[in-house]
Order: sequence, then C-alpha cells, then structure tokens
Amino acid sequence: MAIRRIRVFPDPILRKKCRVVRRVDDKIRDLAADMIETLDAAGGIGLAANQVGALQRVVTIHMLGEESAEVLVNPEIRATEGEREIIEGCLSFPGYEGLVKRAISVKARWLDENGSKMTVTAEELYAQAIEHEIDHLNGILYVDHLLAHQKLVAAGSLKREDEPHMHDVELEIHTDHSDDDEVEPDESGIEIVESTIKFSDLYSDSSISQMQYDLRSAGYVVDDPEPEHDTGHQHHGQAGHEQVESDDPHLNGGVLLDPEHRH
Ligand code: NI
Repeated sequence: MAIRRIRVFPDPILRKKCRVVRRVDDKIRDLAADMIETLDAAGGIGLAANQVGALQRVVTIHMLGEESAEVLVNPEIRATEGEREIIEGCLSFPGYEGLVKRAISVKARWLDENGSKMTVTAEELYAQAIEHEIDHLNGILYVDHLLAHQKLVAAGSLKREDEPHMHDVELEIHTDHSDDDEVEPDESGIEIVESTIKFSDLYSDSSISQMQYDLRSAGYVVDDPEPEHDTGHQHHGQAGHEQVESDDPHLNGGVLLDPEHRH
C-alpha cells in the first residue's frame, strides 16, 4: 500500500470519464488499498480513482465513525429522492468548500472488493458522498453544482454545528512539526485524535498554487475586497483562503485535520 498524490483542480484527469472495471482482481484491490490509505491520510470521506490518476470506476468511502472504508467498483445510482442544500468539499479542492444541492437519499449499487453485488439505500452524508464520488467518475466536480451566485470559501466558513456536512479535508496552518498524534478531550469530554500528516505526501506545492490561481481566474473564488486580517474571526461568504496561500511559510508544516471529522 502507498499514499498516492492527490490531483487537484484544474488537472484535466478530473474531467475524464473513468472506465468500467471488467474484473475485480488484485490490481483493482491494490488500487483500492492505495486509495484508502490516501483517503485516510487526508482525513477524507470519499475518493475517486481519477483523483489519484487512475481512470477506473473505483471509489473508496470512509464514513465517520466506521472502522473500515468501503470499496465501490462500478457504482451506479439507481434512484434519488428529495433535494437539499448542503455544504460540500473535495480533496481535489483542498482548503475550500461551497454550498450545493444534493438528494436526500439515493439508491445505489456497486461491486465490492471481492466482486460481490451490493445494493444500498443511503441517506444524508453517505448519500452525498456516493453522489459526489460517482460524479468524479464521470468527470463532474462539485463546483459544477454550486448554487447560483455561490462561490467557494475557505473550508470551515460555512460550518454549522447542527448539520451533517462534508468537507473532505480542511487545511489549517499547523506550526507544530511534531509527528506524534495528540489526544485531546473536547468540550463534550470525547477524546479526539488529531493526526498530523505531511502536506507534501498528498499534494504537490506547485499544483496547489496553480489551483488557487485557476480558481480565482475561473471565478469560483473571489478576492476579498477588504481583507480583515486582524479581526480574528472568519467572515462568511467571502474569501478566507489566505490560510492556504502557497507562499505562506507555514503551509509545509502539514495539515491539521478537523477533529469534528473524526467522530
Ligand atoms: Ni471530491
């Protein structure tokens, strides 16, 4: 198993349609194992094969609180029900999130890593992850679903405590270079494990700065007309993306996974 470099917007492979897997064999299982390792290292919920450079219809999903990740080969949505607005993020847009419309529940089917047929009715975050990842396999990105007049904002800006949400990863400046995992109790007394991983294991610095440049050029992100660096609070609806600026000397310090994604 190995961690694979995650491709970020606007890498053209993210717009490619992945090929149907003809046989679930060891090659597919190896790919899936790498994807799970990468997904877990990034603290994400879902990853599609083209995000790590493989054009196969393979997805891994690791739901919060679940011990192991799921492998979805050739996943298909059979039916959807309802509609809701929801916060979403993506490992190929590290540090950002946006508001999109997704189904309330989906019926889906796929093959697992042994080639067995699976049929699932999924709701909430699980349904959202399945829709998001199948989109990836078809070259569709969540920015294609952004609600009218919505822009991407810094991950965490839209967060609401009482709502399930999905940002695959949150980047925060982490100046502690220690590799040790820390365990801290939160206000509810639940122990949270904070992992520090090397940012450079997951992303190339040049691709991150290219992403930030292209997101602005494409109008997905707006530059804050009046940056409020000293207010100490995150303001909503405007770019708070300073925290992932590539020229920030702290960026190489690593990725601080949002503890909320760990329970
Ligand atoms: Ni994604």
